[in-house]
Amino acid sequence: MKVWILFSEDIEAPTNEAYEIRRFMTIGREMGVDVKVFAPEQFDLLVNDEERDTVLINGKPQELPDFLLPRTPPVENGYFSLAVIRQLEQMGVHVYNDSACIEAVADKMHTHQILAAKGLPTPSTMLAKFPVDFELIKEHIGFPVVVKTLLGVNGTGVFLIESDEAFHDLMNLIEETNPDIQLIFQKYIAVSKGRDLRVFIVDGKVLACMERRAKPGGFKANFSQGGSVNEFKLDKETEELAIKTAEVLNIQIAGIDLLFKEDGGFTICEANTFPGFRGLEKACDVNIPEAVYNSMRTKLEAREKKSKTA
Ligand SMILES: Nc1ncnc2c1ncn2[C@@H]1O[C@H](COP(=O)(O)OP(=O)(O)O)[C@@H](O)[C@H]1O
Ligand SMILES: [Mg+2]
Repeated sequence: MKVWILFSEDIEAPTNEAYEIRRFMTIGREMGVDVKVFAPEQFDLLVNDEERDTVLINGKPQELPDFLLPRTPPVENGYFSLAVIRQLEQMGVHVYNDSACIEAVADKMHTHQILAAKGLPTPSTMLAKFPVDFELIKEHIGFPVVVKTLLGVNGTGVFLIESDEAFHDLMNLIEETNPDIQLIFQKYIAVSKGRDLRVFIVDGKVLACMERRAKPGGFKANFSQGGSVNEFKLDKETEELAIKTAEVLNIQIAGIDLLFKEDGGFTICEANTFPGFRGLEKACDVNIPEAVYNSMRTKLEAREKKSKTA
């Protein structure tokens, strides 16, 4: 089985993301999987109707893999990496996760639009419009309010705004410096302050779940923001909520974030198509790369069986 991983950083970098790629390479080697890592920039996307079984990497044609595993969120240089994913997808490579779900889920507003349309629980969310109508936000979303950049990851673009002054200061700053940025305003789920659940799902099955807790006084529970992690036993109802979220968004490898609700139960904070797993493997007895490769093998065997009988 041949797998390519799409990753833009240096794989020796001291980041969680690079560590996870190294885990994929080590486990791949142990399992006899042929794994290679490429940056989107190494590809040249030549489109014609003749060469359909190779792609240009560093200017040279390379035979296609069985699977592509994109691990570069489409934030910086997003269009190019999406185009690489689409090219391989259109040539018949099985992509985990596919370009359509990556695009929909990278946009937090779009994610909430899809989830709400399917009747799944999400905090009230409004797309920002300038000049901001503060009273309207107070009326429909409430205060304090959570402000998020549309495409943020790892907690970097998420703010809890607790006073009118802080809200006006932030909006003024944005209008002055970056008026084109897209933001959402979201109902603050106070009981979930500094804690949430991360559920890791592969092909509709929950592999593991952890509770994340922010540093004392913190509001964001992300592991990458220094949050602590513990295994969490999901009840049936919450497990179904997480699975349904991944299913509705059509994510094959999903990290679903759930917020605790006042009256028990959970509401959906967001979904991730590039879920990290360093924290999860620390908290739970789970081997994420192994589970992903096993899932790929099952798919490949089914595909080969089908083509033999066809
Ligand atoms: N509406 C909310 N109410 C309470 N806490 C929130 C809310 N939205 C986000 N958080 C906290 O902020 C963290 C980061 O938010 P999230 O939307 O998951 O952004 P990111 O994509 O950057 O991880 C969450 O894990 C959670 O701890
Ligand atoms: Mg998150």
